[in-house]
Order: sequence, then C-alpha cells, then structure tokens
Amino acid sequence: MRAAEAAAAIEWLVEMGADEIIGAEPVNRLVAPPPQAAPAPQAVRPASSPLARPSLIRPAAPPSIAPAPAGNSDAAALAAQCATLADIEEALMRFDACPLKKTATNLCFADGNPEAPVMLIGEAPGRDEDIQGKPFVGRSGQLLDRMLKAIGLARHNEKPEEAVYISNVIFWRPPGNRTPTDQETLMCLPFLKRAIEIKQPRYIVCLGATPTQRLIGKSEGILKLRGRWFDFGGIPLLATLHPAYLLRQPAQKRLAWRDLLSLQQKLKADAH
Ligand code: URA
Repeated sequence: MRAAEAAAAIEWLVEMGADEIIGAEPVNRLVAPPPQAAPAPQAVRPASSPLARPSLIRPAAPPSIAPAPAGNSDAAALAAQCATLADIEEALMRFDACPLKKTATNLCFADGNPEAPVMLIGEAPGRDEDIQGKPFVGRSGQLLDRMLKAIGLARHNEKPEEAVYISNVIFWRPPGNRTPTDQETLMCLPFLKRAIEIKQPRYIVCLGATPTQRLIGKSEGILKLRGRWFDFGGIPLLATLHPAYLLRQPAQKRLAWRDLLSLQQKLKADAH
C-alpha cells in the first residue's frame, strides 16, 4: 500500500468513528484463527476440600428481581437533581447508560454565554466537537458563527444580549456521525430539557429536524417546520435549517437568512 492510500484508509477509518489503535500488531481478520486448545476440564473438589466449605466459597449472586436503582443510569432522575447548568454537565459525566459515551472521546455539553437570551440546539457532536468537547466547532459551527455574526450575535460575546448559548440533543458523538437511535436520543433528552428549564432562555432556536421534532413533538420534515415559531413550555421556539445542510445545499441559505431575520426582529423588539 502506498503512503497516500494508507493515509486515505486511515482518514476513512477516523470518519467511521475509529479513534484508537488497539493493538501494536495488525491482525489479518480474513484468515481463519489458529485452532485453540480445548480448556482443561475443571477438577471436581472432594467435599472434604477446604474450598468446599461454605465459609470459603463466594455464594452466587441471587438473581436480581428488584427494579434497577436510579444510580447513574436513570437519566430523568439524575437530570431532576440538577440545579445549575454545571450540575448537568457534571451529571452527564457520571451518567453511564448511554452507549455513545463508550465510543466518544469527550462529553460535548454546551458552549457560549449561559446568560444569553438565545439558546441554539443542534443534533449531535461531530468529529471536531468530539475532539474539542464543545458543540459546533467544526465546519458547520464556523458557518453558524458567520450566520450569527450577520445578525449581530456571537457565542462568546460578554454582553448577554449579543451572545448565544449552544447545546445539542445528543451529548456524545455517534460513531461515524451516524443518526442517533431513538434510545440514545431519549436518554439524552431529560438533560437537555432540564438545561432549558434551568437556563430559561428567552428564545430557543432549533437547528435542523432532530431538535425541532424532539422538542415540539411533531414529525413533519424541517422544510415544513422551518421559519415557524412554536411554543416550548412558554418559551418561543424557532425552527430553522441545520448549518451542515446549508453547507450541502448553499441555495437554501436564503431560507435560513429569513429565519435569522425573524429572530433578530424579536430581539430588536425586546430591546425597545
Ligand atoms: N452538528 C450538530 O448538530 N451539533 C454539533 O455540535 C456539531 C455539528
């Protein structure tokens, strides 16, 4: 294999979600493994053996019949205990039921100014977000920052009224950027909903179909939902197009621009 081919193969693997080398030697999985010696039969201990005495043998764990304790795997219970956004991030670090956590490099919870009136919600971290542990820092995020700048907003602006706070529905990167499953999404949702409850943004902006459909409970496509204001527990929620979609379909930026102007209008009205 030439160097360029090897580099392309590695890049493809990274895109698919591989982020670790787990063996120093390559394994050819296309050849049959050598036959393994059968395990030695276990010696049967005579009853007089000291290990046969009840006090020295660990009894088998009784079958669990009680429901699983809330522990670190009950998303709703953990989220309900959080009083601040920092608590949520800390709870997510302890939460161990989401399988995406096992393949992700970093937790990716939120970025921006927590005091900002606008809270943007995307779908799930991609490769760059997984590496940096912050939402929207890759190509989509760069486009998002330019779009926000066009209406006078910046995620890290110290003046809250000119800043935004950004999070996602999913907090760990799905391997290879695949679509998160319903199970994964439902596990993360209580944390997002609690974050909204704590933060109480003046406006929510959903980027793309996933956050919009999950928060407003509608299944229509984003091209039908975008540009419309919905209500999320008393908070006005605007649906718009995801910047990754706009990178693929630049002609649709005009629709996103209309949505941004609608947000800007609301913010201007609030300022007067
Ligand atoms: N796309 C998302 O939906 N969220 C991110 O954080 C990055 C890309």
